[in-house]
Amino acid sequence: MKQKEIFFGGESDKWFERNRSLKDSPPDLVVDALHDMGIRPLSLLEIGASDGRRLRRVKDEFNSSVSGIEPSEKAVATAKSRYNIDLHRATADSLPFQDSSFDCVVMGFCLYLCDRGDLFRIALEADRVLSDQGLMVIYDFYADTPVKKAYHHLQGIWSYKMDYRQMFLWNPGYREIYYRAHQHSLSGLVTEVAADDRIIVSILEKNLENGYMER
Ligand SMILES: C[S@@+](CC[C@H](N)C(=O)[O-])C[C@H]1O[C@@H](n2cnc3c(N)ncnc32)[C@H](O)[C@@H]1O
Repeated sequence: MKQKEIFFGGESDKWFERNRSLKDSPPDLVVDALHDMGIRPLSLLEIGASDGRRLRRVKDEFNSSVSGIEPSEKAVATAKSRYNIDLHRATADSLPFQDSSFDCVVMGFCLYLCDRGDLFRIALEADRVLSDQGLMVIYDFYADTPVKKAYHHLQGIWSYKMDYRQMFLWNPGYREIYYRAHQHSLSGLVTEVAADDRIIVSILEKNLENGYMER
């Protein structure tokens, strides 16, 4: 069974239930990055948005129009009924939006759970819905050397860590304009960042013609 089917079939509800009690406005590295760069998206999509917690902040702080996709039935129902957020029940490999619908697409810490055979399709879909000169935000685990680890919460599921920026940066039409690495463990006791305990926020600017020298 594919991981996306397992998440669509209930594992994503479990993620939502485990994390729903977190306080409402924890630090948000993606929102911080947008502030740092002075970016105010007009229309932002988050992929793997859970109940739209980040989307609510983006809407409030930048006055953006926001949408999300998320496999969890419970998270989507909560986002719609309680917060009136435009959230669709879907997975990253098939986005229910027209081409060039958004000027900012956030990969919201879900790539590490996605099936390896879907990565090309996921990149294709994210690129398709992002307008030219839009921004692709990659927020996920990072590892120099690709590694996979057993997912803590369910046997048979893998967490995959790699440099997800490379899904787009092979293309000269994408250029990185912002990068921050952080430590994933929240323990204050850890003094060195383990090689596979990093998360990154990277902002890539899409500009399909401008990555080429004219000769
Ligand atoms: C670690 S949580 C991140 C939630 C939120 N974006 C955040 O940053 O707090 C990963 C989310 O990705 C969702 N997810 C899992 N597989 C997915 C897939 N194939 N496509 C899209 N989202 C997926 C999970 O249901 C979960 O809500």
